Amino acid sequence: TRLIVTTREGDTRALETAPGLSVMEVIREAGIDELLALCGGCLSCATCHVIVDPADAARLAPASSEEEDLLDGLDDRAPTSRLACQIPFDARLDGLRVTIGAEA
Ligand code: FES
Repeated sequence: TRLIVTTREGDTRALETAPGLSVMEVIREAGIDELLALCGGCLSCATCHVIVDPADAARLAPASSEEEDLLDGLDDRAPTSRLACQIPFDARLDGLRVTIGAEA
């Protein structure tokens, strides 16, 4: 299963991954540490902000109200912004494209 990630510098990488991780964990385990994910995935920091490719946004389950609240606090929220720790990454999302959000 592959996740396609674009970094803040504009580099795009295809990350091959096993099931059972969140999008945040896939990115961190690939050594891309500009996605800080300071709270470790417990939905309290918003430093795992990614912007989902608009063509892929409908493939994801909607954000919870807690996730929405954190997204609303971001200066650079985009229409397809999500918190990467809240996206379980599995085979149905193969080829999903995300761009890492600006530094908070
Ligand atoms: Fe903190 Fe996602 S890692 S909200």
